[in-house]
Amino acid sequence: MNTISASSFKLLRYINLKLLMCNGKCEFHTFCGYQRQTFTSNSNSSLVNGKIGVSVNELFLKWKSTFIESDVSEPVESIQHILAHVLKTRNISIVHRQKNKILLPEEVERVTEYCQQRLKRVPIQYIIQEWDFRDLTLKMKPPVFIPRPETEMLVDIVLSEIDCKPINKILEFCCGSGAISIALLKSRPLLRAIALDKSIDACKLTETNAKLHCVLDRLKIINCDIRDNVQIGMEKYDVIVSNPPYVFEKDLYNLQPEIKLYEDCDAFNGGVDGLAVIKPILKASSLLLNYQGKLFMEVDSRHPLLITSWLQENKNNLKLNLVKTHKDFCSKDRFVKILKEY
Ligand SMILES: C[S@@+](CC[C@H](N)C(=O)[O-])C[C@H]1O[C@@H](n2cnc3c(N)ncnc32)[C@H](O)[C@@H]1O
Repeated sequence: MNTISASSFKLLRYINLKLLMCNGKCEFHTFCGYQRQTFTSNSNSSLVNGKIGVSVNELFLKWKSTFIESDVSEPVESIQHILAHVLKTRNISIVHRQKNKILLPEEVERVTEYCQQRLKRVPIQYIIQEWDFRDLTLKMKPPVFIPRPETEMLVDIVLSEIDCKPINKILEFCCGSGAISIALLKSRPLLRAIALDKSIDACKLTETNAKLHCVLDRLKIINCDIRDNVQIGMEKYDVIVSNPPYVFEKDLYNLQPEIKLYEDCDAFNGGVDGLAVIKPILKASSLLLNYQGKLFMEVDSRHPLLITSWLQENKNNLKLNLVKTHKDFCSKDRFVKILKEY
């Protein structure tokens, strides 16, 4: 039989080239870098289940040690996520379960390409272009902020609030990839939301993610800067939520290279006291909240005190009161509940 499928052909070509390599007769350039560094003699070839090729485990071990030598953060998780992505799963335990699997040449090429990006400190979320937030898998695109696990707690706090009082509409300031609004909309099928961000990339990504999770018909996305007069109509809200930029300027230097080099600095830079965007959010919330309406915000652990005293100074104008703080995984006060009062 003359006909062979494209994938069988690639596999055969790969095995032939690999055999040539193993015989030490050729310098193999097809898989750039990786092959030249690692497959120069017989000692690196694998015979797994009777097939010669590169196994998941070989790639795992090779890249784990390369990442460790190069001081890449989370070296094990990095290669696990890359391998899982190439194996078309989000379950990183598959990597261990399929450790003897021989990868196709194009799969090896993709692993190599992704690992080389990781060596340049590209966040894993941008490399695999997706990330999980609660039970959702969201598309990720640089430089839009990557949702962090603690923000899932903010969603829980808001959900418990919505449960106490039936709320049909919420407003989110600084939506980024849309993680918070989409998670809330998925959890409450009758809820509607307005999500706002000054970054057009963030607004587009929120739209993509909302479409992906079938909630776009209940979400309005507005591209605007909270420091300008927010044009979202006359309506008032019972609940506003935000994870704004809140990192103190002096702390920016301590951030990991992954963040400094690849994520939008405006997404985390909160100015000298971390309040540069928080204060405009408080002012806008004062106008947009109903009486007894609540603003839920993720902040730095130094902020609850600073916000309390700033609200006290501006009590007559804003009529807002910080009534509760919630702790994060490290028992730090990281979430505030602010109430609109007379
Ligand atoms: C920390 S990220 C949060 C993103 C998302 N809510 C999350 O939790 O993953 C902050 C977001 O605020 C947006 N942002 C920063 N300054 C802003 C401003 N002045 N007005 C509106 N959005 C702003 C950034 O573009 C960024 O998407």
